[in-house]
Amino acid sequence: MNQYLPLLLIASCLFFISHSQTTSNTSSQHRCLPEQSSALLQLRKDNLKSLNGLVLSGNLSMEIFHSILNLSQLVHLSISSNNFHGQLPSTLGNLTKLISLDLSNNLFHGEIPSFLGNLTQLEYLSLSNNTFDGRFPILLTNLTKLQNLDISINQLIGPIPCEIGKLPQLSYIDLGSNSLSGSIPSSLFTMPSLSSLYLYQNHLTGPLKFQNISSSPLQTLFLSGNKLYEPIPRSISNFSQLEYLALSSINVKGMMELNIFFELKRIKYLRLSGNNLLISKGKVNSSLPKFGLLYLSSCNLREFPDFLETQNELVSLDLSSNKIEGKVPKWFWNVGKETLQRLNLSFNLLSSFEQPLKVLPWKNMAYLDLRSNMLQGMLPIPPLSTNYFFASNNSLTGRIPPMICQVNSLQVLDLSNNQLTGQIPQCLGKFSTSLAVLNMRSNRIQGKLPKTFIKGSNLRTLDVSRNQIKGKIPRSLAKCIKLEVLNLGNNNMNDIFPFWLESLPELQILILRANGFYGPIRSPRTNVSFSKLHVIDLSHNNFSGRLPSENFKTWNAMLMVHGKINSKPEYMGDDSGYYEDSITVMNKGIEMELVKILTIFISIDLSNNRFSGEIPNTMGNLKELIVLNLSSNSFTGPIPSCFGNLTELQSLDLSQNKFLGEIPQQLTSLTFLAYLNLSHNQLIGPIPQGRQFGTFQNSSFEGNLRLCGFPLSKKCENIETTTFWPSQESSFGEGFNWKVVMIGYASGLLVGLVIGHVIISRKLDWFARTFRVNLHIQ
Ligand SMILES: *[C@@H]1O[C@H](CO)[C@@H](O)[C@H](O)[C@H]1NC(C)=O
Ligand SMILES: *[C@@H]1O[C@H](CO)[C@@H](O)[C@H](O)[C@H]1NC(C)=O
Ligand SMILES: *[C@@H]1O[C@H](CO)[C@@H](O)[C@H](O)[C@H]1NC(C)=O
Ligand SMILES: *[C@@H]1O[C@H](CO)[C@@H](O)[C@H](O)[C@H]1NC(C)=O
Ligand SMILES: *[C@@H]1O[C@H](CO)[C@@H](O)[C@H](O)[C@H]1NC(C)=O
Ligand SMILES: *[C@@H]1O[C@H](CO)[C@@H](O)[C@H](O)[C@H]1NC(C)=O
Ligand SMILES: *[C@@H]1O[C@H](CO)[C@@H](O)[C@H](O)[C@H]1NC(C)=O
Ligand SMILES: *[C@@H]1O[C@H](CO)[C@@H](O)[C@H](O)[C@H]1NC(C)=O
Ligand SMILES: *[C@@H]1O[C@H](CO)[C@@H](O)[C@H](O)[C@H]1NC(C)=O
Ligand SMILES: *[C@@H]1O[C@H](CO)[C@@H](O)[C@H](O)[C@H]1NC(C)=O
Ligand SMILES: *[C@@H]1O[C@H](CO)[C@@H](O)[C@H](O)[C@H]1NC(C)=O
Ligand SMILES: *[C@@H]1O[C@H](CO)[C@@H](O)[C@H](O)[C@H]1NC(C)=O
Repeated sequence: MNQYLPLLLIASCLFFISHSQTTSNTSSQHRCLPEQSSALLQLRKDNLKSLNGLVLSGNLSMEIFHSILNLSQLVHLSISSNNFHGQLPSTLGNLTKLISLDLSNNLFHGEIPSFLGNLTQLEYLSLSNNTFDGRFPILLTNLTKLQNLDISINQLIGPIPCEIGKLPQLSYIDLGSNSLSGSIPSSLFTMPSLSSLYLYQNHLTGPLKFQNISSSPLQTLFLSGNKLYEPIPRSISNFSQLEYLALSSINVKGMMELNIFFELKRIKYLRLSGNNLLISKGKVNSSLPKFGLLYLSSCNLREFPDFLETQNELVSLDLSSNKIEGKVPKWFWNVGKETLQRLNLSFNLLSSFEQPLKVLPWKNMAYLDLRSNMLQGMLPIPPLSTNYFFASNNSLTGRIPPMICQVNSLQVLDLSNNQLTGQIPQCLGKFSTSLAVLNMRSNRIQGKLPKTFIKGSNLRTLDVSRNQIKGKIPRSLAKCIKLEVLNLGNNNMNDIFPFWLESLPELQILILRANGFYGPIRSPRTNVSFSKLHVIDLSHNNFSGRLPSENFKTWNAMLMVHGKINSKPEYMGDDSGYYEDSITVMNKGIEMELVKILTIFISIDLSNNRFSGEIPNTMGNLKELIVLNLSSNSFTGPIPSCFGNLTELQSLDLSQNKFLGEIPQQLTSLTFLAYLNLSHNQLIGPIPQGRQFGTFQNSSFEGNLRLCGFPLSKKCENIETTTFWPSQESSFGEGFNWKVVMIGYASGLLVGLVIGHVIISRKLDWFARTFRVNLHIQ
């Protein structure tokens, strides 16, 4: 795009420093001091004055920017990706000879300055990806030599001036992702040199007027994500050079006729997703254009469009999220047989294949998405070249054919939520080093896990939960050093705690719930044991013994506040973004599926086991914990006062144990705590008052015969405590209590565990309510 590669490339200020100091200290090169570099520029002014090309990138200061303004001979200037923020200076000083100017990927704001209108030599201008606002600068229409104009990803408002159509040399315009409004000037379509026009994601309206366009050189037209209202005129077919056309989600009234695009002789890329599409049936016309990419997702289609039958050059076809029902027709195997790389049929009502094949045809397939249909019968084997195969949420039955192991370039294999039976083929543990995700959750798979997982494995997610798998966890899993998610929950496995996984450096989620695991949890053998773990669910097993206090010293991901505040929370999934991990989290009475997992969701569930002894104080170090469930064990001793340090905690369940003594006053400092269950223990004395404790019901405390005070009806008679409470109440009066409670609810949820979750809830209580709120915020 940038044909003006500078004559002199100065990569960054680091360059200046490293070349000015012959005995440079390598470690100081990592920093770029603004004073130093602008001084350097000043120093070298005489040399630089004659400079005619300059690229600066890195993290430069505004001072440098000002120094540049003196370089009067400069013709090419690029200051892309510098983190510059603030307004541009009101003048570019002596830089009147500029031919190309690139200020993209910075944080400039304010209106686009008027001096740009004076740069009459300008041929290339990019202001993309800043936060410029105001109207489209009319003075740019005076830059008669302009060839390339990019102001995409800013906050421009108002109409596009029709004068822009007078620029004779302009061949590339990108105004996408702004807030431009008004109708699209028809002068844009008759520009003599314009070959690419990007106006996607704005508030532009119709009607479109295509007149006198037959000699237009326009090849690329992207109007997706506007609100045209008016239908696309048939005259669009008069664009004789148009190859790339994107009209997704443009909000036209009525149906959009597909036929009108068939007369575009050169069209090969067509995006019409999100429109109500009318496809006329009838004889397939062999003179149709050959598409390479065709996106017809969410178009209300009810059957496979006939015209696809002759499309033998397709590379990417998206028919997802329609209402296509019944069988995949036989002829469909020939669509793009030699060329198709990406096929998306997900979210339709497909039931089977008219002509089932053992291995699906397409020779070059990479992404094949069949998820969320009603497919029955045997699992089809994807073409051997496939990297991503999604067949989840169907009704597939029968065994998983071992032949799947021949698809050895697979990276994601998601067969979850089907009715597959039989064993997992042994070869799946070792057939490929590229496999990153193996998801077979919620099927009827029996037998044991594959024994052999191999060294060099790329596996990051292994989810075989909700099946009928027996036996032990294969020890060879310890070779999968990239493993992040191991979900074996709800099976019939029978083994001791897999301490041999402790050294897996990336393991973040370990779920063994509802199996027959037994025995104690051993102390860690290294001090990096489970150091990235942030979700551990051992509930509903037969684990026993005390909790070794050393464990909670090595679980670094749960320990410190570091990272969390500075780093952006992310969802867990594979790098491509097509697969996102999901898990089911249980809380007393509530089972919910987190369809996305934030890396900052931190939860320990040890409930329904036979753990005993006191809670180690080291648990109070797990400051990032959000959910802690120890219910239905035989824990004894006091509730540790250090739980008051777990300030992120939103749900705490210690019910059905043998906890003794008073409820520590420190628990009142848990201001995000929205769910507390201490019922059925042997607790005594006054219930702490204030803050979140004002919100808990009787049920949080019942079954402790000697507890007293609000919310229980039993009054505390002890004089010491009665003198204590009023002072508490005076410092946290009614109104204050509620405020704290509200903050707890709202911001705790903003930090939020999930978005777009599904709640399978038996009773709609705080969790459900608060998660609705969260959904709403997003
Ligand atoms: C380089 O700079 C670092 C940090 O300023 C300093 O610790 C180090 O001693 C310096 N090394 C040399 C060789 O000057
Ligand atoms: C750029 O500089 C700013 C402030 O000087 C600093 O906060 C930021 O971390 C730097 N960014 C990079 C990528 O060095
Ligand atoms: C530009 O050059 C003039 C004259 O040489 C000098 O006075 C001024 O300080 C320079 N400006 C900057 C920002 O370097
Ligand atoms: C910039 O232009 C002004 C006026 O034309 C002139 O006085 C000044 O010397 C120029 N600065 C440089 C660095 O060329
Ligand atoms: C916008 O610029 C930022 C750096 O300022 C960069 O991280 C981001 O990827 C850019 N966005 C696009 C769409 O290029
Ligand atoms: C643009 O150039 C004109 C004439 O040379 C001058 O009067 C005006 O001040 C300049 N505008 C800017 C913003 O530099
Ligand atoms: C554009 O150029 C014309 C003639 O060169 C001049 O009269 C007009 O003021 C300029 N417009 C702007 C907005 O600078
Ligand atoms: C189209 O071209 C014809 C002849 O060149 C001209 O008379 C007519 O005004 C043009 N129409 C538009 C809308 O530009
Ligand atoms: C295409 O342009 C010709 C004249 O150039 C015109 O007669 C015809 O009506 C146009 N086609 C459509 C579909 O508007
Ligand atoms: C096929 O389409 C072309 C262009 O739309 C049209 O001219 C031709 O008459 C059609 N042929 C048949 C057999 O429908
Ligand atoms: C297929 O389409 C669905 C829904 O439109 C989308 O969520 C999914 O990411 C697509 N899959 C691929 C592999 O592109
Ligand atoms: C944790 O809690 C204990 C007991 O309440 C307290 O003594 C200790 O200072 C707290 N530690 C930290 C790091 O806050």
